[in-house]
Amino acid sequence: MPRAESSSHEVTSTAIEIYPGLGVWRVSLKPAWGEPTGSPVTSSSHRALPPAREALAEMVPVAEPPIPLAAITGRLAQRGILVEIPLGSTEEVYGLGLQLKSLRQTGKKKTLRVNSDPIADTGDSHAPVPFYISTAGYGVLVDTTRYASFYFASHKAPAPHSQPPAEAGDWKPAYIATNTEDLYRTKRVSSFVQVEVPFESAVDIFVFAGPTMLDAVRRYNLYSGGGALPPLWGLGIWYRAFGKFNQREVLGLASELRAARMPCDVLGLEPGWQTKAYSCSYLWNSGSFPDPDAMIAELRRQHFEINLWEHAFVHPTSPIFDALRPVSGDLAVWKGLVPDFTLSVARDVFAGYHCKAFVEKDITGFKLDECDHSDFIASPWSFPEHSAFPGGLDGEEMHSLFGNLYARTMWNIFRERNFRTYSEVRSGHAFAAPLPFVLYSDLYDQRDFLRGVINSGFSGQLWSPEVRQCASEEDLIRRLQMVVLSPQALINAWMVPMPPWRQFDGEKNRAGELMPGWEALEGQARAVLELRMQLVPYLYSSFAQYHFCGTPVCRALVLDDPDDLANGMIDDQYVLGPHLLVAPIMTGQTTRRVYLPRGNAWILFSNKDFNTSQGAMRYEGGQWIDFEAPGLNALPVFVRENTLLPLAEALPFVGREPRFKLTIQVYGNAPADFKLYCDDGLSYDFENGASYNWLALSWRKETGLTSRLTIAGRPPPREDLYEIVGAEVVA
Ligand code: GAL
Repeated sequence: MPRAESSSHEVTSTAIEIYPGLGVWRVSLKPAWGEPTGSPVTSSSHRALPPAREALAEMVPVAEPPIPLAAITGRLAQRGILVEIPLGSTEEVYGLGLQLKSLRQTGKKKTLRVNSDPIADTGDSHAPVPFYISTAGYGVLVDTTRYASFYFASHKAPAPHSQPPAEAGDWKPAYIATNTEDLYRTKRVSSFVQVEVPFESAVDIFVFAGPTMLDAVRRYNLYSGGGALPPLWGLGIWYRAFGKFNQREVLGLASELRAARMPCDVLGLEPGWQTKAYSCSYLWNSGSFPDPDAMIAELRRQHFEINLWEHAFVHPTSPIFDALRPVSGDLAVWKGLVPDFTLSVARDVFAGYHCKAFVEKDITGFKLDECDHSDFIASPWSFPEHSAFPGGLDGEEMHSLFGNLYARTMWNIFRERNFRTYSEVRSGHAFAAPLPFVLYSDLYDQRDFLRGVINSGFSGQLWSPEVRQCASEEDLIRRLQMVVLSPQALINAWMVPMPPWRQFDGEKNRAGELMPGWEALEGQARAVLELRMQLVPYLYSSFAQYHFCGTPVCRALVLDDPDDLANGMIDDQYVLGPHLLVAPIMTGQTTRRVYLPRGNAWILFSNKDFNTSQGAMRYEGGQWIDFEAPGLNALPVFVRENTLLPLAEALPFVGREPRFKLTIQVYGNAPADFKLYCDDGLSYDFENGASYNWLALSWRKETGLTSRLTIAGRPPPREDLYEIVGAEVVA
């Protein structure tokens, strides 16, 4: 405990600007009595990539910190270090990672514990991140792996017998409650964010400048190393097969998907592929998978990528058990070792084995399950917080880092082979933006899943609102619509043998009962999956913006315009890529309120299947509308007026060498250019600068469609990636 070392509560503060003019500062808080014993375990010291310094340098330069750094103070308290960070009386705050229960954090107390069952709005999350963004246009990261508690302007007592200081620290209630309802309503009573970091006596605070709120997020993502750029195939449809399937059944499913023309790029195998799964052996179960090489070859012939489920807890029968034993934690999970991925030996053993056994055999991704933590379900699992790891971390610190460390270990296999992966992980923390791993959950609340899409964009995370079995046909289609408009279009059928569009009901599906009239539902589902396939080039370009500029692919409305007060509380709509506004319909709704942000007009999206009957509806921005959705093909997706939307002909799979036939939809009379990203879609060569380009598409009434490469003199690595077949004027 820090207090034991001295009776002084004082903390010194040293601020440095990390790179001059690039808008990132670090304030180091340390006890006045000197260096604490042992430095705190931080997310920044275990980051996957160094900061994307050149990309940061392309942002608007910043001379002054966005908040007075001297006003960030610390005090040693009985329980650790208490940090105070100023917060203006009109500011609102957002962020803290994958929060599924709420959007705006002002007035709340949140404790950032890693937990796989975040059932209440307390801060528990698969992937909490001690990073928040203010509407005033800056972000703050508290660089700790402790379960820190954030009090967002909710508690601060006035000092007795003393005048409150005039500047930061001024205590003034924002309003006085006049009735009990008001009294208990979330409200702010101070002009500080207080952060309690338990066990520590020192902590670093990073401050990211704007000037806009979106810029602050972009700086954070670029400082993290830039956003992930998935392989092109990763943006196709994902389907996870029934966990009890054997080799023959997996191959049967694959052929059936192709025969039914249901688009699919990635087939995922669930626990049953291994001899032992809880904990894991990482050995093919030869009883049910007698010839994995032949299966992989056949799936590859049909252009499927294969993703394997696993977690990191290593079963005694695993070939890597003995080598990992000395570099694992002192407590087991499901009788398996918990490798200490902070140690290069553990990483090398784990990655080396996976490379040889799977990646060299053309497995192109993994689902890294259960790297979060459960501690209040009927049979709690995972390692306790009091675990000890050989690298020096305790269980709490390890829980915060485990998802990132595990993902980084696996990602490196692919980086070294210069072949991109897009994978899944169930936990994450700060500095995760570059990791091409998508978060998911066992929870299944549709509203929470939608909030996940939105909140993950505040803190450099990707999230999939995956579809499993459903309550009704409508539920299936509405959930599918949300998933195809998210970072990863995943159908997780691990609990059902038949695709949910043949029987949405889990029990009946397992009993082998086809739904009467399933063909119609399959047709509706196909139309939704094809919408995704049409959007792949648009989404790929949006991901490239995430990589190069740090702009999140899915964003809360408030990020784009915090001054429009209507945006502040909207947690059921988001912006997808540069130009789409998505307002998913929840199961059971036949009409919903949609806010169309100010600044431009919005035109209802339409393609061959969706919004076909309404015509090109145009709405002024800055208003609420009631969107009528009498049928499942009414889809509240709106396109910013005066933009171009490239739509590809829907392919049955993206594959490794796609050729997209593009129709450029024109929304508005004077559309701006659209920058279509091009590279090989597979390798990491884009990181070295020389092998990507942007194709600027222009459309004018008089001249029609033209295109040009924006980086002159540099040929695109795949000349035939896009074939532009024409323009379609929608409005
Ligand atoms: C869960 C995971 C599910 C599925 C299941 C298999 O932990 O969240 O998506 O993979 O394990 O046992």
